[in-house]
Amino acid sequence: MPVDLRSDTVTRPTPEMREAMARAEVGDDVYGEDPAVNALENEVAELFGHEAAVFCPSGSMANQVAVQTLGGPGGELLCDSDAHVVTFEGGAAAAYGGISSRTWPTRGGHLDVDTVAAFIRPGGGYAVPTVAIAVENTHNLGGGRVIPIAKLRRLREIADERGIALHLDGARIWNAHVADGVPLHEYGELFDTVSVCLSKGLGAPVGSLMISNRERVAAGRVVRKRLGGGMRQAGILAEAGRHALRHHIARLADDHVHAQRLAEALAPYGVCEASDTQTNIVVLTVPDAGGLAAAAREEGVLVSALGPNLLRMVTHMDVDEAGVAHAVKVLTSLLSRGERAAES
Ligand SMILES: Cc1ncc(COP(=O)(O)O)c(C=O)c1O
Repeated sequence: MPVDLRSDTVTRPTPEMREAMARAEVGDDVYGEDPAVNALENEVAELFGHEAAVFCPSGSMANQVAVQTLGGPGGELLCDSDAHVVTFEGGAAAAYGGISSRTWPTRGGHLDVDTVAAFIRPGGGYAVPTVAIAVENTHNLGGGRVIPIAKLRRLREIADERGIALHLDGARIWNAHVADGVPLHEYGELFDTVSVCLSKGLGAPVGSLMISNRERVAAGRVVRKRLGGGMRQAGILAEAGRHALRHHIARLADDHVHAQRLAEALAPYGVCEASDTQTNIVVLTVPDAGGLAAAAREEGVLVSALGPNLLRMVTHMDVDEAGVAHAVKVLTSLLSRGERAAES
């Protein structure tokens, strides 16, 4: 088996998770009759200090359900230019919600509060009205950086002052919670809508939720159905998620240690700052990301080339210490070979 560091989405359900799935009590969730889905939605809403949640098949759908309940056609979403919600979801906000976006580059997804304040446009007149600000925490392309809670509080103040909504793409909020020790409800209470994923670091095979107040979640169920995301006996998946919530949050700390080990080993090559690695993602700038990824694959290590120079590695529950050690050996050897070739 190769050491697969392409993403934390590649994990497979553990035997215990499969047992929990097999025991699931199920019903038709489109009728609101699946006990496991209902339990999961209630548990997750409570964890984040909200009234309700809706179970979705993917993080992209949970984001889009949230965005479409915050604003209608003609409105605009503000977020950083690498944000998953506008850059990696096939333009869904525009394609299905009629919502445009205004983005700008940031370092690791840290939105500068003054920039956000300057970008907000009120409704009325001809200008595109801002409906919401979206924040990604942790930030995927930003190398898994945690957005500090103080920054999030400032964004909440701005959103309140200007009367617009705040959305959290919390696909990996669990990693932020474990890294920074901020309770999940403290994150949740700062946002009007939150999306979370069970199928990334938490290791469930499928599933995300959109969390908000009762009214917005009811509207979100309609959007989910419209997008084709109404599922029937989805309790089998919901039980995998409930198992993950009980057993796989605290262990994310191991993934963070593994990512730090990778980052520290690669830092001497001058390609990444180990101190930038706060959670389970390591991003490296290299001369030829595709070439390095192909060479690493030959030696049983899978990494993602996200651009000509951008390499990403993500640690997760299916990569143990031995796997990390093998990845360090292969990658440092390839990088030092590359350095020597450049010098000669
Ligand atoms: C930050 C973030 N949000 C949302 C998503 C979308 O999740 P999905 O692949 O389940 O649609 C991802 C996927 O990697 C992500 O990294």
